[in-house]
Amino acid sequence: VDLNLSIITDNLPLLLKGAGVTLEITALAVGLGLLIGMFVGVARLANNRLIRGLAAVYVDCIRGTPLLVQIFIVYFALPQLIGHRIDPFMAAVGACSINSGAYVAEIFRAGIQSIDKGQMEASRALGLSWFKAMRFVIMPQAFKRIIPPLGNEFIAMLKDSSLVSVIGFEELTRTGQLIISRTYASFEIWTAVAIIYLVMTIAISRLVALLEKRFNKGRKN
Ligand code: ARG
Repeated sequence: VDLNLSIITDNLPLLLKGAGVTLEITALAVGLGLLIGMFVGVARLANNRLIRGLAAVYVDCIRGTPLLVQIFIVYFALPQLIGHRIDPFMAAVGACSINSGAYVAEIFRAGIQSIDKGQMEASRALGLSWFKAMRFVIMPQAFKRIIPPLGNEFIAMLKDSSLVSVIGFEELTRTGQLIISRTYASFEIWTAVAIIYLVMTIAISRLVALLEKRFNKGRKN
């Protein structure tokens, strides 16, 4: 074979721009997912059966269907229902946030359940409401335990956001496809795309490890 490395260097600026877009959409999706997931995770543990049930339905529906299909639903099916188009960026962020929210909800639920129930009992005995106990006693302790799984979620979303390339949203994977359609340099470009993803995921896992260390400083549990 005859590989052309200058194709990589020539297209590196484009690829890096795509990587920036990938990071941006991932940060938005996990950020919004965090917001959704915090409420849904707590809702899954609520005393009210209806609230618990609704939260469970959301988590089951999202985790039980492929992200790819969810992207198609938001981008192609929803517009048919509401009567106007959704631009690829909105559809990508929307689908990924709703998806991430379900995974983050499970992370929150597990984190909250991992806190000894004596903490809630003691808080209630001291006169705190369930909500205040959750907010000021349980959540702060749960938070540091969920940092590692949240880091995993961020990395998973970073890779899975490549699926939004199917609706033509120009993130890293779509950028690679477009360069190849112009240059035919499949081997060079897909290898470069993979390496760029790898650099990002490794960097993020290092960052999460650092964050985890800082959060646990001087603490035993
Ligand atoms: N690959 C799975 C899917 O297609 C998981 C999606 C990943 N999402 C996430 N938030 N980790 O449904």
